[in-house]
Amino acid sequence: MAGAPRAPILLILFLCIIWTSTVMLMVTATSAESSSSVEENCTMMMKYKDPKQPINIRMKDLMSRMTLAEKIAQMTQIDRASATPEVMRNYSLGSLLSGGGSLPMTNANVEDWVKMVNEFQKGSLSSRLGIPMLYGIDAVHGHNNVYKATIFPHNVGLGVTRDPDLVKRIGAATALEVRATGIPYVFAPCIAVCRDPRWGRCYESYSEDHKIVQQMTEIISGLQGELPTNSTNGVPYVAGKNKVAACAKHFVGDGGTTEGINENNTVIDWHGLLNIHMPAYYNSIIKGVSTIMVSYSSLNGVKMHANYDLVTRFLKDTLKFRGFVISDWAGIDKITTPVKANYTYSVQAGISAGIDMVMVPFNHTEFIDILTGLVNDNVIPMSRIDDAVRRILRVKFTMGLFENPLADLSMVDQVGSQAHRDLAREAVRKSLVLLKNGNNTDSPLLPLPRNPNRILVAGTHANNLGYQCGGWTISWQGLSGNNHTSGTTILNAISTAVDPSTEIIYSENPEADFVKSAKLSYAIVVVGEFPYAETAGDNLNLTIPEPGLSTISNVCESVKCVVILISGRPLVIEPYLSSMDALVAAWLPGSEGQGVADALFGDYGFTGKLARTWFRTVDQLPMNVGDSHYDPLFPFGFGLTTQPVLGSS
Ligand SMILES: *[C@@H]1O[C@H](CO)[C@@H](O)[C@H](O)[C@H]1NC(C)=O
Ligand SMILES: *[C@@H]1O[C@H](CO)[C@@H](O)[C@H](O)[C@H]1NC(C)=O
Ligand SMILES: *[C@@H]1O[C@H](CO)[C@@H](O)[C@H](O)[C@H]1NC(C)=O
Ligand SMILES: *[C@@H]1O[C@H](CO)[C@@H](O)[C@H](O)[C@H]1NC(C)=O
Ligand SMILES: *[C@@H]1O[C@H](CO)[C@@H](O)[C@H](O)[C@H]1NC(C)=O
Ligand SMILES: *[C@@H]1O[C@H](CO)[C@@H](O)[C@H](O)[C@H]1NC(C)=O
Ligand SMILES: *[C@@H]1O[C@H](CO)[C@@H](O)[C@H](O)[C@H]1NC(C)=O
Ligand SMILES: *[C@@H]1O[C@H](CO)[C@@H](O)[C@H](O)[C@H]1NC(C)=O
Ligand SMILES: *[C@@H]1O[C@H](CO)[C@@H](O)[C@H](O)[C@H]1NC(C)=O
Repeated sequence: MAGAPRAPILLILFLCIIWTSTVMLMVTATSAESSSSVEENCTMMMKYKDPKQPINIRMKDLMSRMTLAEKIAQMTQIDRASATPEVMRNYSLGSLLSGGGSLPMTNANVEDWVKMVNEFQKGSLSSRLGIPMLYGIDAVHGHNNVYKATIFPHNVGLGVTRDPDLVKRIGAATALEVRATGIPYVFAPCIAVCRDPRWGRCYESYSEDHKIVQQMTEIISGLQGELPTNSTNGVPYVAGKNKVAACAKHFVGDGGTTEGINENNTVIDWHGLLNIHMPAYYNSIIKGVSTIMVSYSSLNGVKMHANYDLVTRFLKDTLKFRGFVISDWAGIDKITTPVKANYTYSVQAGISAGIDMVMVPFNHTEFIDILTGLVNDNVIPMSRIDDAVRRILRVKFTMGLFENPLADLSMVDQVGSQAHRDLAREAVRKSLVLLKNGNNTDSPLLPLPRNPNRILVAGTHANNLGYQCGGWTISWQGLSGNNHTSGTTILNAISTAVDPSTEIIYSENPEADFVKSAKLSYAIVVVGEFPYAETAGDNLNLTIPEPGLSTISNVCESVKCVVILISGRPLVIEPYLSSMDALVAAWLPGSEGQGVADALFGDYGFTGKLARTWFRTVDQLPMNVGDSHYDPLFPFGFGLTTQPVLGSS
């Protein structure tokens, strides 16, 4: 809790309050110059509030006023569900977050989000020093928690596009949608280099190839704004009210764990670490990324949340990263086995390793009390606390949070805007990989004719927006159905694309006899994985779940078919490939299914190239491009192309 301010500051504050309350009365009787010089003298006393002061001066001034309690509070982040405006005022906590699916009472309109964030912020602003809190959220494929926000393809699809400028524009659109809800901070991008698709977070990774992940860090320039050329390397940057602070995650080696087990151990030598998992951090730091999140995983048996050598000595000292390091959700709790076995030890190990802000995320008093005790007992030196607070304040000052702590409703139309949906549609189309299109003796099936008499659209994923968006959409693990957000299902998109005279039969899982007798010109089968996130998505067999496989066989053995696979990663496909006339990997395309139809019917050609190796059998895993034993079904970089159909709409 805030300690008593020192007497001289109280006196100055008092004079300044007198000044502000009388200046309006005086202003008619006094010259403008003398009034403004009083104002200057007042703000000079509160240099940290003066935007004309250099950031270093403001930081120094503010830190000189802060008690230990206020400093430790800045290092504390809790979930909105555990916060109230009163807690924010009493403790002056540094940050709040919405965990996946942690939403305001109603998620129905953007105004509710703005109001919620502002209420918390008003609490923070009424604390002793009025330091604004920083609200963060997982906006990992668009502003994905928010009803009717534009949902972009997950990163696994964006890597396919090989288009960093597209990804930068997605970052800029996401920043606008996030700011529209009053939020200035996103826990994105995930710059994991997923080396094993059995990992449930593989779809959050742009590629198994670090070079593609490096290129895609361009999203940071979209989220935060383009770094000015005169900026100092490693210093965070956010261009203002239409941009958000970004977070590169998860430092480091998250995508390299044994068998792709989430949060497990990455066994790799120093050379491999620097060559595969580290490079995208260089690019992120060069682009002025504001924050970096630590990985739950271990590196050669050492928990990253307790890894002083990597977090402090390498990231901060060697790479000169000067933004702040944040833990993952309850990340320090997991330093011990079992989880939270000795929280005092966890706090000590995490803060000593170099974590600046802890995503607690529920019990702030417990965290604050323990860290305070560790400082008072000289276990953690004051210099470590000051380093953390300086980094947090630098981000807050840089992004203009002190000047613009509260959001207004002027940007609400940005959420799910047509321009952003058009951009997402472009991304969907460019993220598709055409893996098969007829065979050597037959003419290609794609692009599909638009005006056949009758076609079949089949599969669990054809008419399910929740499935096509995947995990991290409205809820943490994702949802099923069409009413959780708005967008275009692949079925809707197909009905828009074909001629009005074409009859579309839609059936999730039709019988083979029906398919044989239905006099179809062709069938489109849309199947794949059901939504998942993090640990729940780890999978050792990587098979297409039922009824997907039976739909493929019922349909494709009876009629010419194209299979659209909706998945967060390559799946076992070799045994079924011969029955398919065409196969498209669509990954997790998000809300704009029209992008799939755009390529199917030839408005645009297929251009995507695999950013992952497509294995034959799971016992080949891990298998990545460049490995000595490389025998993929479809190699990294593979992708058939088609030409757009001339004269198509
Ligand atoms: C402001 O401060 C300057 C220098 O400290 C002093 O000369 C001046 O009288 C002050 N002005 C007012 C209006 O207090
Ligand atoms: C906040 O502080 C006030 C005044 O000390 C106290 O009455 C109130 O219980 C505190 N509330 C919380 C949530 O800490
Ligand atoms: C960079 O240039 C801008 C515009 O000229 C200026 O406002 C800013 O202070 C400069 N920043 C640094 C770190 O020199
Ligand atoms: C990795 O997973 C195995 C199997 O579940 C488990 O026994 C082990 O403790 C995990 N290691 C880490 C570092 O999490
Ligand atoms: C918990 O960790 C602290 C700090 O390392 C240590 O002093 C204490 O002995 C530990 N407690 C137990 C019960 O192991
Ligand atoms: C927070 O942790 C403290 C100490 O372990 C405990 O006494 C308190 O009940 C916890 N508060 C909540 C809200 O869980
Ligand atoms: C090509 O596909 C047709 C059926 O569409 C099949 O009869 C033929 O055997 C295939 N040829 C090759 C070389 O796979
Ligand atoms: C969507 O529909 C399901 C089942 O009909 C219902 O439980 C859920 O509340 C609906 N969600 C929304 C956001 O309307
Ligand atoms: C594959 O693994 C997933 C995740 O563990 C499991 O739910 C599913 O039943 C498995 N499928 C098969 C065919 O073994």
